[in-house]
Amino acid sequence: MLYGFLDFELDEQGFELTRAGAPVAVQPKAFDVLVYLVQRRERVVTKKELLDHVWGGVKIQENTLAQTVASLRRSLHEEVADRVLETVRTRGYRFIAEVRAVERNAAPRSPSQAFVGREPLMQALRTKFEEVLDGTSAVALISGGPGLGKTRLLAEVAKLAPGRGARQVALRCHRAEGVPELWPFQQILRQLGAEPALLDEVGAASSDPERRFLLFDHFTGALKHAARREPLVVLLDDLQWADVPSLLLFGYVARELADARVFLVAAYSDASMQNTLARTIGGLLREDPSRRFALTPLGKESVAELAEQLLGHRASPELLARLFLKTGGNPALLLQMLALSAAGCERPSLVEDTSALLSDDTTRAAIALQLGALSEACQNFLGMAAVFGSEFDACELSPLTQIEPVRALELLNEATRGHVLSKTGKPQAYRFRHGLVQDVLLRGLPAARRVELETAIREARSTRSP
Ligand SMILES: Nc1ncnc2c1ncn2[C@@H]1O[C@H](COP(=O)(O)OP(=O)(O)O)[C@@H](O)[C@H]1O
Ligand SMILES: [Mg+2]
Repeated sequence: MLYGFLDFELDEQGFELTRAGAPVAVQPKAFDVLVYLVQRRERVVTKKELLDHVWGGVKIQENTLAQTVASLRRSLHEEVADRVLETVRTRGYRFIAEVRAVERNAAPRSPSQAFVGREPLMQALRTKFEEVLDGTSAVALISGGPGLGKTRLLAEVAKLAPGRGARQVALRCHRAEGVPELWPFQQILRQLGAEPALLDEVGAASSDPERRFLLFDHFTGALKHAARREPLVVLLDDLQWADVPSLLLFGYVARELADARVFLVAAYSDASMQNTLARTIGGLLREDPSRRFALTPLGKESVAELAEQLLGHRASPELLARLFLKTGGNPALLLQMLALSAAGCERPSLVEDTSALLSDDTTRAAIALQLGALSEACQNFLGMAAVFGSEFDACELSPLTQIEPVRALELLNEATRGHVLSKTGKPQAYRFRHGLVQDVLLRGLPAARRVELETAIREARSTRSP
């Protein structure tokens, strides 16, 4: 069931609470309490009833229930919590917010069903899946920058299991504040219907390294156990947000699955990799490079195919050239440009005039995503670099921006790792991957600074090549 109240949505099966579309971190027991109360919102639920149903009557410390409710209130935010939960003195609790029915998939996450240019990767993923059906484990690590299509590819992988007698669990890691340690794996256990004792262990293990490793073993055991009945596909999205213990557990499980019929597929953004993620992934890829599924931007043919699917007719060569230049083959940016083109303004001028595009909220959001992984210093630096053109020379940049060459190189490396720049092949030469991102950076630069830089660049260039 999907329940809506205030600006929240509570997805009982998906174990997810969102507020205005953004995930809210809730402790597992607090989540269960919330579901139980929503389902019985017409009356007061007594403390005893909650203890019986949520804790299965297991003896717990006296204040555990109060603490769980307090934690739930914090997740909802105190000022909002009063409009959702009523504490009935000495008796129990009541859910008091109005509940509305929510259509599942009323707002699909992916507005487009199009899927182009990934057949070689899909073929390799299908092969791994078949190996799992034949009786062994497999790991696939899908990487790429923001908007390159990691989530979309996972959605295609999710179509493999149904119809082949395999079971599937899918999960997204969240960046939200206050997500408990090991939360992603706790959710997997829940989806698998693991014993409550193991779930409780997860909570207890978070503070004690030794118990943690025992837990890793139990967790792996639980997956193997589940896979004995039917092959199991585990899909994990946004692994870059997982907490450190979760990443360690991920590495452990990936190695210890042996011949259990488990297909472990994880997607992560390599635009900003923290150390534990880099080490975990690096180790797994060294052991078996066939686990690597690195997404690259769509090529010209795929861009043309996507344009045709979305516009309903073949796009002109000029439009295609423009699309490619502005988006660098990034599907998220392409969809934005194509959506606007399809919305009745198929004039190339629209695509020419990026200011129309940039006034669109979703486009801005898609572009912000491209820059979001970069430090502020890097973004500021790129704002200046954008004045030098879509392709520029690092040697030229440093004196005119008054940034030390070593520091400039660091920032250029950061932007390259973050998929905003790429090297052109000529030494010291860099290129903006997406023209749109360059446009946004240029707009963000104060006008006076831009004029100043433009003048300096002109002068430097005229003295160099008279
Ligand atoms: N191969 C593809 N063909 C068509 N559309 C795609 C493709 N890959 C991604 N998209 C679309 O581009 C957008 C961004 O993709 P998404 O999977 O969310 O990126 P990521 O998870 O890498 O940030 C989505 O709207 C998605 O449907
Ligand atoms: Mg994604």
